[in-house]
Amino acid sequence: MNSQADFRPAVVVIGASGGIGRAIARVAARDGGPVVLTARSIEGLNAAAAEVRDAGGEPFTLALDVLAHDSTTQVAEFLARNGLYCDVLVNSAGYGLRGAAIGLPMDDQLGIVDLNIRALTELTLYFLPQMVARKRGGVINLSSVASFTAGPYMALYYASKGFVRSFSQAVHQEVRRSGVTVMCLAPGPVSTEFYATAGARHASIFTLLPMLDAQYVAEQAWRGFRSGRRIVIPGLSAKLAVYAARLLPASLLLPLIARLQRSGNDPCPCGSGKKYKKCHGARHK
Ligand SMILES: NC(=O)c1ccc[n+]([C@@H]2O[C@H](COP(=O)([O-])OP(=O)(O)OC[C@H]3O[C@@H](n4cnc5c(N)ncnc54)[C@H](OP(=O)(O)O)[C@@H]3O)[C@@H](O)[C@H]2O)c1
Repeated sequence: MNSQADFRPAVVVIGASGGIGRAIARVAARDGGPVVLTARSIEGLNAAAAEVRDAGGEPFTLALDVLAHDSTTQVAEFLARNGLYCDVLVNSAGYGLRGAAIGLPMDDQLGIVDLNIRALTELTLYFLPQMVARKRGGVINLSSVASFTAGPYMALYYASKGFVRSFSQAVHQEVRRSGVTVMCLAPGPVSTEFYATAGARHASIFTLLPMLDAQYVAEQAWRGFRSGRRIVIPGLSAKLAVYAARLLPASLLLPLIARLQRSGNDPCPCGSGKKYKKCHGARHK
């Protein structure tokens, strides 16, 4: 067992088997240190580990469901066993679901609260005090441009990202003079498995903004984090979308988002219990 003084700083990526988390792991690996990769899929973790090694980092993989009640302890014990400490925490595990809140299964919707909010918060609150004590490192929390508005037909997802942005920005302010950065990453659409998981591949709202490459988002995130930024919104179009969301009154914005995210199979908002497309669709636009 290593003595505490010998422990080495690691970048710990939660949700590293694919998408944005895996891309951030690749970018962080260029600094040459240990990168701890965590997610459920062993296959995805092994692929991510090979990429980290190719980029010059030292990969460690931990197959873990972050929704397990002891997941934070499992991460901490894994780090200790390997003579590492969490220098940078990247909270990228998350999912969304497209559909009406009254129509989607309740457990799946509550899973969004458990993963996007509870697990992210627990990991942040566990590792952040240690970072502050060391006066180094920090946290990158994945929010979204969705955090700037409520999102009918993806209600839980938008609300969860609003929480992440609010929480991360507040804590950024609290610790900013300690040498630790808590950064909120708020991308628009990024080309990953997210849309398949969310059942949102065909929602027209996601075609309004260009689909960004995960690698580009990761480069922007890492640069912003290393400069101590509070929030990074990659790409001009996403920044403009945030600006528009702030300008438009909710009375215009919410019906617009509802229309762009609703599908014909969602329950009709008139309360008939019928599918939207089978009910008075034309009247309920
Ligand atoms: N793609 C976008 O357009 C977009 C835009 C803005 C924000 N975001 C946010 O960015 C984050 C990453 O999304 P992504 O686009 O990279 O999606 P993704 O490709 O679906 O990746 C999600 C990652 O989270 C992991 N994960 C999911 N559930 C988990 C669990 N219970 N325990 C551990 N790991 C879990 C997945 O791995 P396993 O399945 O192997 O566990 C995977 O590595 C999410 O928080 C998402 O909300 C995405």
